[in-house]
Amino acid sequence: MQQFNRSTYFYCMTQTICICGAGTMGSGIAQVAAQAGFRTLLFDVNAAMLEKGRSGIEKNLGKLVEKGRITETDRSQAISRLSYTGEINSCIADLVIEAIVEQKQAKLELFQQLAAVNTKKTIFATNTSSLSISELAAEIPFPQRVAGMHFFNPAPLMKLVEVVRAAQTSEEVIQAISAIARQMGKTPVFCKDAPGFIVNRVARHYYLEAMKLVEQGYTDIAAIDAVMQATGFKMGPFALMDLIGMDINYSVSGIVWNALGRPERLTPSPVQAGKVARGELGRKTGKGFYEYNS
Ligand SMILES: NC(=O)c1ccc[n+]([C@@H]2O[C@H](COP(=O)([O-])OP(=O)(O)OC[C@H]3O[C@@H](n4cnc5c(N)ncnc54)[C@H](O)[C@@H]3O)[C@@H](O)[C@H]2O)c1
Repeated sequence: MQQFNRSTYFYCMTQTICICGAGTMGSGIAQVAAQAGFRTLLFDVNAAMLEKGRSGIEKNLGKLVEKGRITETDRSQAISRLSYTGEINSCIADLVIEAIVEQKQAKLELFQQLAAVNTKKTIFATNTSSLSISELAAEIPFPQRVAGMHFFNPAPLMKLVEVVRAAQTSEEVIQAISAIARQMGKTPVFCKDAPGFIVNRVARHYYLEAMKLVEQGYTDIAAIDAVMQATGFKMGPFALMDLIGMDINYSVSGIVWNALGRPERLTPSPVQAGKVARGELGRKTGKGFYEYNS
């Protein structure tokens, strides 16, 4: 007989997922959720980003049909499960996954607004790469229902999801989020709340040491990317920073550096600060360390 515990109950009850932020990550996560069978609501305060998210998802689903990875029926069903909104009051769901800017105050305000319109059964997950989830949870009602659900870029392709337990997160919320990640075809990996969790803590050196080599004039970005790829990494550090988004990557560096007591080896890079200041954010703006045609 199937065991039916409380976490199974929450998981079975999860029908609607609201993703907040229709940027690089939010639109990818929304696509994944809709393909996995959930009614999916994508929210953004910026109407142009919402439209960009919608057209990107539909384009991606079309490409999957062309490549024979999904059927035409899969595509149209996924599209029919998706809806889009700029209204916070419409963001009512069993699970909310926020993927807005990597700024604590913005995420806190969003969670407080979401808590005001949702029920005490809603699970609040954050896709933050580096912020303390325990600190976010402390500021909203029902902190036991807050956890990290950290997808990787591009969300439709990357299999890993870090499931992060804040000090307050209940076991049943961790189990429910893990089960939902599995339904999305992802592999959950568990971590307690810590600066940068697993991947962004370890990978800080990949980015920062590469930028130091260039800043100190030892070599250039193309050489570093080529060598790292040749040694087995899927992408070199500079191409990867362009994919991630310079603003996001720079924020994560600053947050991890501060949270660990500002060790010299993790000092954010002035080269990257300059790129952010000039709006050279990578693929999303057409220029970062490399240039891109849209
Ligand atoms: N880019 C990556 O590779 C990556 C990977 C894993 C996790 N993350 C995390 O995901 C989150 C989003 O990153 P991204 O790269 O998708 O950012 P992004 O800049 O591409 O998109 C952020 C979106 O959030 C929207 N937004 C800002 N404030 C909002 C608000 N109050 N309410 C609703 N929408 C709002 C913006 O309009 C924008 O569309 C960050 O926390 C980041 O650390 C990013």
